[in-house]
Amino acid sequence: MKKHRVVVAGKVHELVIGRIQDSCDIAYFDSPRSVPKDVLREALRDAEGLFSTGAIRVDDDLLRDSPKLRVVSQSSVGYDNVDVDALTRRGIPFGNTPGVLVEATADLTFGLVLCAARRIHEGFQLVTSGDWYRGTELSFGVDLFGKTMGIVGLGSIGKAVARRAQAAGMQVLYHNRHVRDDEEELKVSYRPFSELLSESDFVVVLVPLSDESRGMFGDEEFSRMKKTAYFINAARGLIVDTMALYRALRDGKIAYAALDVTDPEPIPPDHPLFETQNILITPHIGSATHETRASMARLAVDNLLAGLEKKPLTTCVNESVNYRGTP
Ligand code: DGY
Repeated sequence: MKKHRVVVAGKVHELVIGRIQDSCDIAYFDSPRSVPKDVLREALRDAEGLFSTGAIRVDDDLLRDSPKLRVVSQSSVGYDNVDVDALTRRGIPFGNTPGVLVEATADLTFGLVLCAARRIHEGFQLVTSGDWYRGTELSFGVDLFGKTMGIVGLGSIGKAVARRAQAAGMQVLYHNRHVRDDEEELKVSYRPFSELLSESDFVVVLVPLSDESRGMFGDEEFSRMKKTAYFINAARGLIVDTMALYRALRDGKIAYAALDVTDPEPIPPDHPLFETQNILITPHIGSATHETRASMARLAVDNLLAGLEKKPLTTCVNESVNYRGTP
């Protein structure tokens, strides 16, 4: 049987690489960030499929010489690196991996809330530096119980974070473009953006990166928050003006920030943010558990193989060009 030609951009999970190899000849770029765009473009010239982990920009410029391409599959839920319209114009379905990473990402997000509130990381640093007893004063935190969490972007992950917050005795507010019709069931309350900022003790950002959300948090937004507020970003770094966040922390406009995503990413260790003492940053590990990354990889490979066979992708972002028929 003739094998499909596929470009793989990013490290493929070991559990699924065999499934791709069974039916595909692979041009494998496991560190695609360091590969020049014209090299990728050349590799895509004969390719029927592109499998990406999200480290490359997929746009008109990359796709201009890829006449045979019939599917792009990415193992992430976010796809701000992909120009979906450019794919739709070419009739190429694009698959991402929603759903399977909800609980893991919610765990990490709520983990940041908890670590920030209770200064867990600072406590550990005091222990390892021999300052155990100073730790009892220096790692004083704040209660979650009775506090208000404001979630900006209450989708699947936001709902899973809300459940964790409610279990900890917090009240949950949210801001979305539209008021949800299941507020009562979820026990959450809508607030206009500026009201959510001023009422919340913990502001949690989970909105996808788009033209609308880019730079959504700047000096003005941080000034609206309580001086005691904790700011958590587990969505995308570009939603926040990083220097405005730095100024807010430095000038005591907010109390603390815990970030899983940054701009730039990776954030250099000499970045001004680290001059402030009230910051915790993890290296974009929201979905990084063994189980979840395996599920994402399986779903992404399902989408890739389906598209190569011109069968419907299970989770297709541009449904209008998804293949029809039974998967
Ligand atoms: C996602 O799936 O979007 C995660 O943030 C990894 O990029």
